Amino acid sequence: MKYVPKTYSLFMLILVIVLWGCKSDIDPEPQNTEQIDGKKTYQNLVVGYSQIGAESEWRTGNTASIKKAAESVGVELIFSDAQQKQENQIKAIRTFIAQQVDVIGVSPIVETGWESVFQEAKDAGIPIILVDRRADVPEDLYATYIGSDFVEEGRKAARVMAELLDGKGNIVELVGTVDSAPANDRYVGFREIMQNYPEVKIIASESADFTRAKGEEVMQGFLEQHGDQIDALYAHNDDSAIGAIRAIEEYGLKPGQDIIIVSIDAIRDAFQAMIDGKLNATIECNPLLGPTFFDVAFKVVNGEYVPKWIPSQESIYFPDDAAEILPTRKY
Ligand code: AHR
Repeated sequence: MKYVPKTYSLFMLILVIVLWGCKSDIDPEPQNTEQIDGKKTYQNLVVGYSQIGAESEWRTGNTASIKKAAESVGVELIFSDAQQKQENQIKAIRTFIAQQVDVIGVSPIVETGWESVFQEAKDAGIPIILVDRRADVPEDLYATYIGSDFVEEGRKAARVMAELLDGKGNIVELVGTVDSAPANDRYVGFREIMQNYPEVKIIASESADFTRAKGEEVMQGFLEQHGDQIDALYAHNDDSAIGAIRAIEEYGLKPGQDIIIVSIDAIRDAFQAMIDGKLNATIECNPLLGPTFFDVAFKVVNGEYVPKWIPSQESIYFPDDAAEILPTRKY
């Protein structure tokens, strides 16, 4: 047998490992087309997706991202719009189970009430991936959660608001959909920071269901009740803030000046509102989750490791940069 020096063998081993690592970094996802060792490819993957509805610009951006990514990787997507009803989402998941899809993506409208249907999916051997919103279920009932840290978004909004108010003032709050993860967490995160500002008071708080129409209606009520006492508005999403802006103008006050406004999402219309001087800051919540969702779905069905939470990267935007940034916004 030919003699191979030990250092040479070691060098070759390291080289193989390094080249292997580089390969998996470079390979773009859509190349997963060949069926190797019985593993699924994108082309023979069937994905059921239960979306909440179309309550906000954020949501329509999220739906577009899911559909576009499905098309670009070539999976079969069975998409179901629940029209804001949990019962429709539960029905859709049961239909996906009957259809024997490979994996189910779901954005749960509310946090509670999912345990039985997720258990049914588990019993059928179909993994659940939570997208955008968490559900209050044991960890073994879902593969992973892809989405934002909503508590941190609430904290960010509070820090910005406290600074804009110089540490004192009366705030009204437009809460998101009752019992939804973003509404619960943005409520908690905001208060966690505001407890350090004893001269800041949250004088009214009500759900606007993440919609413009409700944002306008609830803000009208706040104005009728508290009028000039209101120094600031914290809205759980930009759409409800935009509805509230209409109410504030109808009432004869100047949004962004007479009433400071901080909201969440960073949709294109929020940038326009900042350019128009009607919104003081928006905290980003990223809806462009489609590419990550299919990448993760592929890994999950093929038994690859995925972490239990894949967090989104998000920023904060202010009026000063709004005009420059608006043309680059994708939702
Ligand atoms: O779950 C994300 C939230 O849902 C967004 O902030 C809101 O706009 C949407 O409807």
